[in-house]
Amino acid sequence: MTTTPLHRTPLPITAVGYEQRASRSAMTCRNRCGDACFKPEPNRTDHGHVRDEIAKVVQRRALLKGAAATAGVGALVLGGGSLRPAAAAPLPAAPDAAALSKDMSKAAFRPVPPNTRDALVVAQGFTQDVVIRWGDAVLPGAPRFDPQAMSAEAARQQFGYNCDYVGVLPHPTKRAKSLLVVNHEYTSDDIMFPASYDDEAKKEISMYNHGMSVVEIKRGRVEGSWLRVQPRFASHNRRIHLDTEFEVTGPAAGTDRLKTSADASGRTVLGTLNNCAGGTTPWGTVLSGEENFNQYFGTEGTPNPEYAASYARYGLAASTSRGWYTVQDRFDLAKEPNEPFRFGWIVEVDPSDPQSTPRKHTMLGRFKHEGANIIVSKDGHAVAYMGDDERGDYLYKFVSKKKVATGTGANARRRNLSLLTEGTLYVARLEGNGYDATTNADCDGTGTWIPLASDTESFVEGMELADVLIDTRLAADRATTADGGGPTRMDRPEDVEPNLVTGRVYAALTNNSRRGTQFPVDEANPVGSSTTKDSGEPTVTPGNNNGYVLEMIATRGDHALDTFRWKLFLVCGDPEAQETYFGGFDKSQVSPISCPDNVAFDSVGNLWVSTDGNALGSNDGIFRVPTQGPERGHVQQFLSVPRGAEACGPLITADDKSLFVAVQHPGELDDASFENPGSTWPHTDDYPRPSVAVAYRRA
Ligand code: FEO
Ligand code: CA
Ligand code: CA
Ligand code: CA
Repeated sequence: MTTTPLHRTPLPITAVGYEQRASRSAMTCRNRCGDACFKPEPNRTDHGHVRDEIAKVVQRRALLKGAAATAGVGALVLGGGSLRPAAAAPLPAAPDAAALSKDMSKAAFRPVPPNTRDALVVAQGFTQDVVIRWGDAVLPGAPRFDPQAMSAEAARQQFGYNCDYVGVLPHPTKRAKSLLVVNHEYTSDDIMFPASYDDEAKKEISMYNHGMSVVEIKRGRVEGSWLRVQPRFASHNRRIHLDTEFEVTGPAAGTDRLKTSADASGRTVLGTLNNCAGGTTPWGTVLSGEENFNQYFGTEGTPNPEYAASYARYGLAASTSRGWYTVQDRFDLAKEPNEPFRFGWIVEVDPSDPQSTPRKHTMLGRFKHEGANIIVSKDGHAVAYMGDDERGDYLYKFVSKKKVATGTGANARRRNLSLLTEGTLYVARLEGNGYDATTNADCDGTGTWIPLASDTESFVEGMELADVLIDTRLAADRATTADGGGPTRMDRPEDVEPNLVTGRVYAALTNNSRRGTQFPVDEANPVGSSTTKDSGEPTVTPGNNNGYVLEMIATRGDHALDTFRWKLFLVCGDPEAQETYFGGFDKSQVSPISCPDNVAFDSVGNLWVSTDGNALGSNDGIFRVPTQGPERGHVQQFLSVPRGAEACGPLITADDKSLFVAVQHPGELDDASFENPGSTWPHTDDYPRPSVAVAYRRA
């Protein structure tokens, strides 16, 4: 299967056209997820599809809408050095106030056109600065970064590789400062090391480039700008890495499957891995998802056959691309068969206390956690929404047993820090009620949260409580509603985040190359092939290549209840393609968007979406989308990231003046190397450096 991009602007190094992942480079696939896309999907169940037998195709209206959608497109503008269709038709003259507004939520801007520049391009009228780069000092005394002299010891003190989640929290004691909390998801070993490093040195240095960083920042001279505080003046800076001690909480803590030769208690784990997205809690901590943890484990021995089903469901296998078992025995599946059960959790970090022990919460289940985001239910329970990022895997939520304590005193704080240790874990089933299968309008229906376990009991027949939490995927496969329906296999659930302005929840479902073939289409997953145009001739590519954004509405606005309504808010892709849908907004007025990944909200409830792996042939970016009113669904590209990069974060500060973006894996293109870089962004060196940047209104 190959893809023909809509905007054929070849990258200098091949980045499109390989088998499973239309635009993400093969190098990114190997480094990020251990080539998950090339392997059979671990969810072998056949249940859980939205019932499409009741779908009614409203063909006539589809035709009418299709005609309207294609009217008025096709204007050409110059951008990125080649002729290409405009990202959107020219906007009417913006009112001055909106055109000049410093608020990201209100500012009118012309969308950034699709491009393949090696630059962080922000909308006209805005600018951006790099706040911190890979290798910059986090701890006082950290060695100056030198790619020719990297070491594990240096990495433990420096900003790690491949920044992903970005949180900005108040500093606990200094009003002028804030705390930037960042995940370092994975390393791109092929491009971060000069040829002089041998494989074992690379593995060891890479290990310590994973984890998280806490970095003090302060406002810059221009409103909306931010700078990092020098480490010697930053008492709260912290580097969390593979030697950092984590406490395991919840019902699976201390159970046999979490015990290893290094930890007979089953309650203490060293390190966190593949931390992807996350969320900031109302009580001032950061949650971070351990995602593709399986790729770090392997063996030359024979894995325990008792664990075969569990290992297979999580993609754990003898041969992995990372091969870390040659450096640390605990990554050897034959020597330490329980070590992989100690990864794949939601971790909680309290950045206000640099001495605090971060925790892994078993009550929130073990899977390839993208992240977790909290909303407080009507009667005060903490509800965490979560996605399991794998083709055909599920959406989850957790409802705390205890209520969120209000106030800022020590008692309230202590109580809130225990909220994620007791409660109920659920998996989602979605049912449709009929839709327009040509335009994907009216993809909506109802949903049920199927309980899997509480802190005292398993709700899955034949599985013990600890096993439900450790093998959450296997538990979810068996779970059913009262009338026998299983959970719904989705197209790679990424960030799932409540919009705190409206109470609606938005899930990015990034893509699924096998939707329409191995996975039948249904009302919640309606795209089995996508259309791109090149030289005027449409090309149809199998699979859901551009993804969706799903909107979930809790019954009576109560997130603790076990039912909800849902709607596909965006069916992403080329606005000219009939299958795309933008919340009902005029398709001739929106930016093309592909592969939504992380979501965030500003103070008025606009959705901000970052993308990973644009399948339309352009660089990834960040897009603003109103969710309410006449502008609902008006997708506008606010920035684009450099070549080979994906856009992560994003985060809009509470005053709407700043947008933080983590530029992950710039230059990670097939055939790139340190000596032959696919990007040199942020252009401070002759090789790329993943970095966090902040965009704001130009002074
Ligand atoms: Fe790390 Fe689901 O992307
Ligand atoms: Ca419907
Ligand atoms: Ca991502
Ligand atoms: Ca988010």
